[in-house]
Amino acid sequence: MKVALITGITGQDGSYLAELLLEKGYMVHGIKRRSSLFNTDRIDHLYQDPHHPKQRLKLHYGDLTDSMNLTRIIEECQPDEIYNLGAMSHVKVSFDTPEYVGNVDGLGTLRILEAVRLLGLEKKTRIYQASTSELYGGLAENKNERGFYDENSPFYPRSPYGVAKIYGFWITKNYREAYNMFACNGILFNHESPRRGETFVTRKITRATARIALGLQDKVYLGNLDAKRDWGHAKDYVRMMWMILQADKAEDWVIATGKTTTVREFVRMSFAEVGVELEFKGKGVDEKALVKKCNNPEYQIEIGKEVLSVDPSYFRPTEVDLLIGDPTKAKEKLGWVPDYDLKDLVEDMMRSDIKLMKKDQYLKNGGYTTLNYFE
Ligand code: NAP
Ligand code: GDD
Repeated sequence: MKVALITGITGQDGSYLAELLLEKGYMVHGIKRRSSLFNTDRIDHLYQDPHHPKQRLKLHYGDLTDSMNLTRIIEECQPDEIYNLGAMSHVKVSFDTPEYVGNVDGLGTLRILEAVRLLGLEKKTRIYQASTSELYGGLAENKNERGFYDENSPFYPRSPYGVAKIYGFWITKNYREAYNMFACNGILFNHESPRRGETFVTRKITRATARIALGLQDKVYLGNLDAKRDWGHAKDYVRMMWMILQADKAEDWVIATGKTTTVREFVRMSFAEVGVELEFKGKGVDEKALVKKCNNPEYQIEIGKEVLSVDPSYFRPTEVDLLIGDPTKAKEKLGWVPDYDLKDLVEDMMRSDIKLMKKDQYLKNGGYTTLNYFE
């Protein structure tokens, strides 16, 4: 049985990847942080009975800032594959905690690579490093002749997060070249899902749209509506992480959809899912979105209601204005074909958030339900 170790297993990608590897018959080890509240919501459905003899998911307490802990876990698991997904992954928050981000997202990667090397596992263990499109920084002049970022485009990170991740990128490449390790970077563009953290822009929008439609919230405040992102579905992207480690050769790969969309358009698409047409008025910090039409009898929102304003506190000291990736190499060499496009993604997130918020509304009105009633 193949053995995998996932750092960041409690996160969006870690949870989908654990599902995928369990389906493929792997023994899956995951590192979770000690926290004062339960933090395993996203993987609880995979972890029914820790004492069952056939349980193939095992969690270990740990942290990417603790080398001894990481080395001990890797020695215990003897993994065939390590997926290093653990990170402080919020770009805006990285401006508030730059040193911590350097330690976790940058040096954390080194700790994993060095543990594998010191334990003499460099021939056995393949390593996936969660690199990011934030490395490119959105500089127009660095796109290729076709207008995309690809594996050869120069990097120009624009946040402490991006700078820490660039260390992770290069140290992974260096260990591959210096010690002949099977260590690869997946340079992933933004990927979202119903399990996306609530403070990333897509999930903030789909949650707020659902709550506004159900009368639980009046409006949402966002930052830069002009920012453009290449958004895919996390399920498609974790499949690619696995494919990267099954390749014949260790390399770095761009994973993206090749399309880019503004935050404003994502808002429009989310409201369209509940039958609401929006009109955007004003510019910059004065921009607002108002309800123009409401075509769904289930959600009665008054015409002219203001449902979105800009709050400059969400602006970043330095912004990445535009991301668009070229996944040609992954498609041609590994045969990656994504199942979801942006419309499917928005539908999936909205369906899930409407369900979740209906449960909220029901409970608020004094109803009682078991956790899965609305699933
Ligand atoms: P996420 O939902 O924020 O999950 C991050 C995971 O890392 C969580 O399990 C978190 O634990 C864990 N973690 C945080 N600090 C840690 C520490 N000090 N030690 C050990 N674990 C720690 O992120 P994601 O969206 O799944 O992304 C997965 C990885 O891909 C990240 O490295 C991210 O930077 C990178 N990435 C993401 C995207 C994207 O669009 N999603 C794109 C490119 C790259 P808690 O649950 O306890 O917080
Ligand atoms: N979070 C957030 N909140 N972003 C907002 C808001 C808001 O209220 N309003 C506008 N935005 C804009 C941000 O300024 C940014 O340009 C864009 O929406 C996307 O922001 P996020 O969803 O926070 O994601 P990100 O692109 O900064 O970072 C994500 O993708 C990276 C890959 O490119 C994260 O998942 C990173 O970990 C990942 O590496």
